[in-house]
Amino acid sequence: MSNRAEIDPALLLERRQGLPDDLRVLLENYPREDWSAHPNVHGLASMWLQRHDMFRELGGILTAAIGDYREGRTDARQFAQIFAPRLNFFLGQLDGHHNIEDHHYFPIFARAESRLTRGFDILDSDHHLIHDALDMNSQTANAFLQALQGDGDTQRYAADAYADQNARLVAMLARHLDDEEDLIIPLILDRGDREFGG
Ligand SMILES: [Fe+2]
Ligand SMILES: [Fe+2]
Repeated sequence: MSNRAEIDPALLLERRQGLPDDLRVLLENYPREDWSAHPNVHGLASMWLQRHDMFRELGGILTAAIGDYREGRTDARQFAQIFAPRLNFFLGQLDGHHNIEDHHYFPIFARAESRLTRGFDILDSDHHLIHDALDMNSQTANAFLQALQGDGDTQRYAADAYADQNARLVAMLARHLDDEEDLIIPLILDRGDREFGG
């Protein structure tokens, strides 16, 4: 969505614990535990859930790789080999996914259900915050990968700094993915893919 809307500060990504009640109106009719059995789940909704699961899985792989290195199960060279390509893939895919959502799907969804418009403004603001965190993440990751050539203290300090950044990004993403699904999946199930050009 192009124009950035004012968001209630309590609903910003790192402050909220979920969507507010007025944005859960469709979710009440389509609770999460019923999604996989709904006939309209095949197609767009499944694609969405699979993409999100891939991001959750990649976030978990990065977190585990950092843990393995910090606890001495991998050395600096092994760590960099495992970590760098996966991080690049993760950051690139996430950026592409948010672009399609912001420019293609969110405007279509918001037009289809005006009661949820504020929800798409919230998700759009999440994307900006996540984008900033991604920039920070890749800067800190680069510093960390550089530090792997330095002495033990330099490595440990950079590893701590990066682990913090990564934990923050993964937590932001987890909240965003859950809330986005709670907003979008009930809408797709309610209307079916055809309403959204599927
Ligand atoms: Fe998103
Ligand atoms: Fe998404």
